[in-house]
Amino acid sequence: MENHFSFIEHIEAKRDGRELPAEALRSIISRFTADEIPAYQMSAFLMAVLWRGMTDAELSAWTEAMLRSGDVLDFSDIPLPKVDKHSTGGVGDKVSIPLAPMVAACGVAVPMMSGRGLGHTGGTLDKLESIPGFRSRLDPDEFRGVLTEHGMVLAGQSETLVPADKRIYALRDASGTVPSIPLIASSIMSKKLAEDLDSLVLDVKVGSGAFMKDADSARVLAETMVRIGDAHGTRVKAVLTNMDQPLGAAVGNAVEIEESLDLLVGGGPEDLQRITFRLGAEMLVMGGVAPGLDEAEARLREAVDSGRALEKFGDVVAAQGGDPGALTDRSLLPHAAHEHVVAAPEAGWVAVCDALDIGVASVRLGGGRQKQEDDIDHAVGISVEAKVGDRVETGQTLARVAYNGRAELQAALPLLERAWEIAAEPVQAPALIIDTVAL
Ligand code: URA
Repeated sequence: MENHFSFIEHIEAKRDGRELPAEALRSIISRFTADEIPAYQMSAFLMAVLWRGMTDAELSAWTEAMLRSGDVLDFSDIPLPKVDKHSTGGVGDKVSIPLAPMVAACGVAVPMMSGRGLGHTGGTLDKLESIPGFRSRLDPDEFRGVLTEHGMVLAGQSETLVPADKRIYALRDASGTVPSIPLIASSIMSKKLAEDLDSLVLDVKVGSGAFMKDADSARVLAETMVRIGDAHGTRVKAVLTNMDQPLGAAVGNAVEIEESLDLLVGGGPEDLQRITFRLGAEMLVMGGVAPGLDEAEARLREAVDSGRALEKFGDVVAAQGGDPGALTDRSLLPHAAHEHVVAAPEAGWVAVCDALDIGVASVRLGGGRQKQEDDIDHAVGISVEAKVGDRVETGQTLARVAYNGRAELQAALPLLERAWEIAAEPVQAPALIIDTVAL
């Protein structure tokens, strides 16, 4: 076994910009996961990575070592193509919820492992748990059982999948080393590659409400993740999409389930429809069940129009303990006691509808966690009624806020009152789909 002296050498090598051999990287991951490297040394190493980066060879070995730090799933007995979608996180991003049943209804298996809200971004599991009875914690046998029977599953990551990431992420959070492209890319890709996927579609968000604030850094992150996938033998395509303003209208938990249901019955906001159908089409093409994006979108449309996608969602909700009746009778979903209207202070065109402010406001209403152990209020939320480029008159509703507590509303209002900027001249809505990255 290596002693601390050799780890110091690894820290120094990374600090000085030298490339580390794969064996050294594997040893760092396995020793850190086994509690054999103290946090102060690992933090120094992570900081050296943040400044010096990693070569492709280093990153591939590091990611592979992370994904092998715990269980690696094996779905080789499921005869369908297995394709997942992962978003780097945003505000109002409920795409996974309608997308998984739409894609599964077209014959692609979707073993979707999702997360909880992180900072101002919402989490798919928190949203799903607004459905009475829904269980997002499944043991590995249940996860496999739901996937095998229904061709999809929507659940959290098990404790034994990529334990190295849990420990490294906690240390990054406490040592200022979260915003490093190799560390973000390896964190995301180690978890996705442990799912035994054939292909992966990444939705890399760009803008005020995203990790990556500009398209150039988002493109570098996307290219990095695509190359990690390629080195592992998994096809990855990334779509860069705008996150300067919330996606769709609903921001919260139960309200986002309602909007997801709108999509599954053929409605919903146009931006949410466009991104969901585009990402779904990419999944069908990568899964080999449609020859091109147009044909794939038509198949997804048919799955929605025929009711098969909604029926699939209902079956999976029931299989995971939820009340499928809540999908058609929305009075069974949680609803907040009060409503507050945010009105336009002047007439003009919406120039800014800030995703970050609106995301933080939703957390302050109780829809997200300020501390990891906090409970969340599934009923509260924000419905955005004016987006960038829209014309508004003085006093027109910009958003409706569903709230339960006065104190929470008061904490959220300053952010909501500054989230919109109104210009005197017409404003062009931003491009929703910015770019795609694949090998
Ligand atoms: N999501 C992750 O899973 N890891 C990161 O480092 C950032 C976003």
